[in-house]
Amino acid sequence: MCGIFGYVGSEKASPILCRGLKNLEYRGYDSVGIVTGSSQLEIRKDVGRIDDLKTRLSLEELGGNLGIGHTRWATHGRVTAKNSHPHTDCKNKVAIIHNGIIENYLELKTKLVERGHRFSSDTDSEVIAHLIEEWLSKSGPLPGTASSVNGSSFEDACTKAFKQLRGSYAVLAICEGEEKIVAVRKDSPLVVGISEIGTFFASDVAPIMDWTKDVVYLENNDFVVAEKGDIRFYNLDSGEVKRPVSTVEWDLEEAKKGNFEHFMLKEISEQAETIQRACVQDMAVVDRIAGMIRSGYGVFFIACGSSYHACLTGSYLFSKVANLHVNVVLASEFENYEHFLTKKTLVFAVSQSGETADVLEAVRAAKRRGSRIVSITNVMGSSLSREGDELLLMNSGPEICVLSTKTYTSQVVMMALLACALNGDHESCLQKVKDLYLDIYNLTSRSMRDRLKALAGDLSSQDHIYMIGRGLQYTTALEAALKVKEVSYIHTEAFAGGELKHGPLALIEEGTPVFVFVSKENGDRIVSNAQEVKARGGFVIGVSDWDNPVFDRWIKVPDCEDLNPVIQAIPMQVLAYELAVQKNLDPDKPRNLAKSVTVL
Ligand code: F6R
Repeated sequence: MCGIFGYVGSEKASPILCRGLKNLEYRGYDSVGIVTGSSQLEIRKDVGRIDDLKTRLSLEELGGNLGIGHTRWATHGRVTAKNSHPHTDCKNKVAIIHNGIIENYLELKTKLVERGHRFSSDTDSEVIAHLIEEWLSKSGPLPGTASSVNGSSFEDACTKAFKQLRGSYAVLAICEGEEKIVAVRKDSPLVVGISEIGTFFASDVAPIMDWTKDVVYLENNDFVVAEKGDIRFYNLDSGEVKRPVSTVEWDLEEAKKGNFEHFMLKEISEQAETIQRACVQDMAVVDRIAGMIRSGYGVFFIACGSSYHACLTGSYLFSKVANLHVNVVLASEFENYEHFLTKKTLVFAVSQSGETADVLEAVRAAKRRGSRIVSITNVMGSSLSREGDELLLMNSGPEICVLSTKTYTSQVVMMALLACALNGDHESCLQKVKDLYLDIYNLTSRSMRDRLKALAGDLSSQDHIYMIGRGLQYTTALEAALKVKEVSYIHTEAFAGGELKHGPLALIEEGTPVFVFVSKENGDRIVSNAQEVKARGGFVIGVSDWDNPVFDRWIKVPDCEDLNPVIQAIPMQVLAYELAVQKNLDPDKPRNLAKSVTVL
């Protein structure tokens, strides 16, 4: 998703902006741009990677002690230089960068064009620069959009322009002749870093941490004016406000690759630790939430992607361990269920980033109906962390790779913890998680990786891979298939074992690879499904704690009962990683995907 970075202070801005944008690379992007200066704005932008453009466009040569930079992930308008940010007004005096979606941009653009504004891009974002220009000009506002004014200061013009926007946005704006950055956020992430050398803005905390760990998490509609040595916070609804400075508790080293070739491998390898940290919760809060589940009149879990798979796993665990039914709904489909919500409904919103637009939209719809919200996220200060009545943090540390690995297993562990808490017995879960430490260590060891690398070598030329499981092994198959397809681009699909004969069996031909996730509990039935596959020529790869003659290959994992979804997911993450590496793909940044999906 788009990344935003801004700096104003005592140092030359352009090298800082380049480094900040480099730190934001993990969010995914297709083009880059920066603008610096105050007496005259200097703008450079194009399609491409930051490292290439830094040299080609001499980005670090731009002068000035203030500037804003952007990595774009195209939504409105093709991937072209003219659509890259920053965008400017007609006279190139105002420059803005934006992350989010301006829903009413067409309406605004039409009025601006009627007023003589010339647009240079196909983006929704460009209207912001022209709106500011309009409010700065002597000629007053757009007809029918606001009360009349004759010219405004830059800050004032920004406030008025921002108030006209509908949608989600994090915006940084600068103006020729002004020594300040003006920022605003609504439903899109924006963090302010405070340091001795100046003020930083970014879409996330990690990119700022090269300079400071002191950050301010902005509220919705917060409006910030930063100059060298001064920063002021306002809210578009309530005027000047005070915002607390928090110190980031994790270390920058955690957000760096260290000796690992890729973040994906580093994050996979951290899981022996991160699942322990997922259990470090205030048990009084866990018990209180368990009570809310018990007394909830309808419990919904909403999430997307891997987080959704973790919730599905949770629903099986709640059913099995606590004899309790919960509804699991994709956040993007939640509007179809909203009419069931009441004040007594409990909604769990689960999101690693805490910024996924589909999840936030669902949460806001639930709040409008008076339902109570429990937020589960990895990012303190994220929008979701501030939306809920109760908050549980995953404590996984930063996850930089676009794919979820360690945060998925942490989410599953948290589901198991809640399921045990429903039975008044979190201790049993804590002990089981402790016992996984060595198993996970072994599953991420060099020798296991070498075995999975060999298997990846055999599978890398396949066009289709299938995965089957039952119960907790079905949700594991769903997650494993997502991992493999998104990073290796091999079409990979998961089915419930019992569904094979209702359709998917038609896909099996000589040599079709089918992974079969087995546990003691459902061993016989899933092994018969494996036999159905084998009888049609399929190549069966078993993931289980015992070998079986039906397996052509066997990935040995210990049987960890309710925590099998954790233990069986890990070799599949490693396999997905090895497939990407063998296909010369970048496992950290799969094509077309972004780490936090802040648009609907
Ligand atoms: C898959 C993956 C995505 C995310 C999804 C939700 O590896 O990472 O499917 O799980 O985009 O993201 P969060 O959890 O941040 O809401």
